[in-house]
Amino acid sequence: MLTGKNITIGVTGGIAVYKAAQLVSNLAVSGAAVRVMMTESAREFVTPLTFQTLSGRQVYTDLFARPAGGAVQHIDLAASSDLVLLAPATANIIGKIACGIADDLISTVVMATSCPIIICPAMNVNMYNNRVVQRNLASLRGLGYHFVEPGVGRLACGAEGRGRLADLELIMDKINFILANEKDLQGLSVMVTAGPTVEPVDPVRYLTNRSSGKMGYAVADAAARRGARVVLISGPVELKPPAGVEVIPVQTAAEMHAAVLERFSSVDVVVMSAAVADYRPKTAATQKIKKHGETLTIELEKNPDILAELGRIKKHQLLVGFAAETEDLVKNAQKKVSAKNLELLVANDVTLPGAGFGTDTNIAKLVFPDGRLISLPKMDKLALAHTILNEVPVLRRGGKVNHIVPLS
Ligand code: CTP
Repeated sequence: MLTGKNITIGVTGGIAVYKAAQLVSNLAVSGAAVRVMMTESAREFVTPLTFQTLSGRQVYTDLFARPAGGAVQHIDLAASSDLVLLAPATANIIGKIACGIADDLISTVVMATSCPIIICPAMNVNMYNNRVVQRNLASLRGLGYHFVEPGVGRLACGAEGRGRLADLELIMDKINFILANEKDLQGLSVMVTAGPTVEPVDPVRYLTNRSSGKMGYAVADAAARRGARVVLISGPVELKPPAGVEVIPVQTAAEMHAAVLERFSSVDVVVMSAAVADYRPKTAATQKIKKHGETLTIELEKNPDILAELGRIKKHQLLVGFAAETEDLVKNAQKKVSAKNLELLVANDVTLPGAGFGTDTNIAKLVFPDGRLISLPKMDKLALAHTILNEVPVLRRGGKVNHIVPLS
């Protein structure tokens, strides 16, 4: 399963470095191309020669080394990795990553890569329980870093408790799980809608909403990375289109409705994250409306409910909706999931700090038609996008998941 995968391991300074040597050996045996980076502290425990021999490749230790050919080493390592694994990860490297510090090779590669990153902490129990370390771990979890938690037992320093590097089998399972998931949407066609719609009032004015499109763009990006063919029907937003995604720009709900229906029969999954205007001005004035009296009444008429219509006509398609609520989140979400005939509804209370329009994070609940409800922590929108997409293969199999483990 790991044949052809480029796995870059960052080894930082703790006694568990000796276990990392066995891990590198196991990975090399299972066909992965393993590259090892070591900090100065790690080299106090084991020399690079051990890792060089086990991986069959040079070991990287110096941020400023210039490889033959003139490549920039940390960018090259970051870009060519399918997975970065930190094992053992000390409190120090965890703190640096959580604070955005990149002052050595490993922290710089971590900052520069866009591939999944697994962190395997190992340290003394008191260090592990330290509130600053716990805060850093929680913040990295919220940003979508993956973890293999340390085990409990007698530690090398003589103390008892949680802090031992996790069993190598657990680490291998995690690596396999993440790399197997990577292209789990290959062969699927996914349609995503994003952003607000804009409903003209006259040639210079319009009605719209606060949607930034970030959530939908994150879903489109994540789906494309996981191998899906993605079409993104987007209202007007200030975002760069994700790589490899076909973008269809639209303005009004009516245009979005037409664009979605035109492609619906040829897609497998629809993720409807656009904030579609429920109403539009009954007539858009052809000339600028002049100011006259103290009040102005604009009559609105209903837009089509695109998702509800998809729910009525769907055949094989899997439908994921979003619900932005300001009160009675769960009750409203449960009503919407059945009224619109959805497989999944992602509900969020847009009044919470760190959730909703314009933010880079979201706090969502996944609501399923069978009554299941999963409350997710505050997450980066890309991490939430992956968490939502984790459900797609399961739902397509008609299976029920009892839990999802999005972040650890
Ligand atoms: N939606 C849609 N067409 C509309 C309105 C909403 O397809 N005209 C979709 C949204 O993209 C979202 C889901 O329906 O995935 C729920 O949207 P939301 O605005 O929360 O719900 P509404 O059905 O509009 O109900 P209300 O505004 O009354 O809460």
